[in-house]
Amino acid sequence: MGAPRVVEVREALIVEAALPEGALVGLDLFWPGRDPEPVLALRRGSSVQVWLNVCPHAGRRLDYAPGQFLMHADRLVCAAHGAQFRLEDGACVDGPGRGGRLAALAVRAGEGGWWVSPVSG
Ligand code: FES
Repeated sequence: MGAPRVVEVREALIVEAALPEGALVGLDLFWPGRDPEPVLALRRGSSVQVWLNVCPHAGRRLDYAPGQFLMHADRLVCAAHGAQFRLEDGACVDGPGRGGRLAALAVRAGEGGWWVSPVSG
């Protein structure tokens, strides 16, 4: 028996059942050798967007409890200090951090659901 092979994983799978239509969902993505990465995901029809669950204002999580998000007029509201984000593009349009943007992860549709790549390797 030889040495174990090292496999570099470049994508994580989000299965279709994890993303109900139109619901903002908090997930943890698991990359080998790294801490779980909290993200939020939104599916609208065949389009899926995934962002890091990190506010660009002060680096805090956006949810007030794991997977629980505040919304106001179709905007995501950061639970820490109230920054508001458009869900169309992740732009911060009101509150502290205005002009910033959520960090988007690359997503592609594939067998079994959506395949997500990390923001950085
Ligand atoms: S950390 Fe989100 S508004 Fe300050």
